[in-house]
Amino acid sequence: MTTGLPAHPRMNAAWRAGRLKASRKNMELNASARPFGRRRLLQFAYSAAVAGVIAPSGIFPARAGDHPRHALTAGAGRVRLVGTDYPETTVWAFDGQVPGPEIRVQQGDRLSVAVTNNLAEETTVHWHGVRVPNAMDGVPYLTQRPIGVGETFTYEFEVPDAGTYWYHPHQRSFEQVGRGLYGPLIIEEPEPIRVDRDVTWVLDDWRLLEDASISDDFGNMMDLSHNGRVGNTMTVNGQVLDAFPVRAGERIRLRLINAANARIFGLDFRDHHPMVVAIDGQPVEPHEPDGDRIVLAPAMRIDLVIDMAGTPGSRAPVVDDFYQDLAYRVVDLAYANEAPLRDHPLDAPIRLESNPLPEPVLSEAVRHEVVFTGGMMGMMSGAMMGGRMMDMRSMMRQGMAWAINGVVAGGHVMDPIFTLERGRTCIIAMANDTAWHHPMHLHGHSFRVLSRNGEPTRYRVWQDTVLLAPRERVEIAFVADNPGDWMFHCHILEHQAAGMMSVIRVA
Ligand code: C2O
Ligand code: CU
Repeated sequence: MTTGLPAHPRMNAAWRAGRLKASRKNMELNASARPFGRRRLLQFAYSAAVAGVIAPSGIFPARAGDHPRHALTAGAGRVRLVGTDYPETTVWAFDGQVPGPEIRVQQGDRLSVAVTNNLAEETTVHWHGVRVPNAMDGVPYLTQRPIGVGETFTYEFEVPDAGTYWYHPHQRSFEQVGRGLYGPLIIEEPEPIRVDRDVTWVLDDWRLLEDASISDDFGNMMDLSHNGRVGNTMTVNGQVLDAFPVRAGERIRLRLINAANARIFGLDFRDHHPMVVAIDGQPVEPHEPDGDRIVLAPAMRIDLVIDMAGTPGSRAPVVDDFYQDLAYRVVDLAYANEAPLRDHPLDAPIRLESNPLPEPVLSEAVRHEVVFTGGMMGMMSGAMMGGRMMDMRSMMRQGMAWAINGVVAGGHVMDPIFTLERGRTCIIAMANDTAWHHPMHLHGHSFRVLSRNGEPTRYRVWQDTVLLAPRERVEIAFVADNPGDWMFHCHILEHQAAGMMSVIRVA
């Protein structure tokens, strides 16, 4: 290990001490420790980590013209998350794998996926970030009846945009995703940029006990009302990883996906200089990340192009230092003892072709204000719940802690917070009046991020999930061109479960 940085034990210890702080904003993220019961959490050991090459476990579609057909089965499985010194972990997974099979299709393909539910409870699948027709969006009761135990439901839609996406259930997601139900969906450009390797890293964060089993305290009030279920074990493609083999001189396109319930990653590649080429699937002007740190909130994706500029035989750490004083090593880039692939970095363009997104017309936009309140250390005294005003304490007794425009979402029937005329540009001005971070996700559309705290953003990037820091103001704009009722919610899955959810109607 080259850094002397702790791997996970410290992260674990600090989580127990309950002092996770975001290093940038220095906001208190986790106010108090929750006491543990008789079972103890895993004390993390790194030694046993597997140092293998991570190959995406692709499933190979039966191709009928441009109509790839896939099948996924959700059910229990056993996987080795932590390495050979620990028992296997019982998970809920697609096809018994964590992450689920990587689905790869071509931009413009019609994708068809038959999802069979072998869980002991209902489920759905949401195609996060893909601009699907409403009926294929996978939101229980809003866009479909949930898939019952033993049932199969076939999702079928065209994929308009190339890029890095992912799939996950939208039914009790805080537990179903938290137990391992998710997988990558890669939509390939007709003419991809030239790289030596195209690699996907699905990042996750688990709360494991000493025997590597999943702590079953899903949905506890502490997680719901603070920063969500932050865990103690970080995996890359379903494994605690010690080393990722690379070759000097090679160029890698690295697709990062944050599948964690709540953990925000702030990746620092130290001696390497990754270029950001896409965010949430959508191409962006290639640029070095702000502060040399890739901030990846839950549900976000970032595509990087990295030239492996190290020397053969060396190791270079990738560090996550999002939470103050809790930096840990994610993995080492381990250079093979082989002559460099080339002497100079590859001379090839890395700018991706834009997707066919409708450009917002700001001069004709309708503007809506959306305010987030609640959580511990917030100012919220109460909110509307089930049609009546409730004080914060009664809300918390019912497992609710957050509100959007003063309304706590609960139950199945949700009235839209507003209705947009189809084809019209909408600006949403969001205000985070809480002491916590919130990655806000809009279904069915990608939006441009116009400003933060009144300052125009540098690239007006297209995203489907935008992270708001405590007290931050963010403006987004999009053309409401996709008819239907669309979820707009926080992707810290505990916040979503505790009321931070709403619906926007496009009619
Ligand atoms: Cu990734 Cu509404 O979800
Ligand atoms: Cu949130």
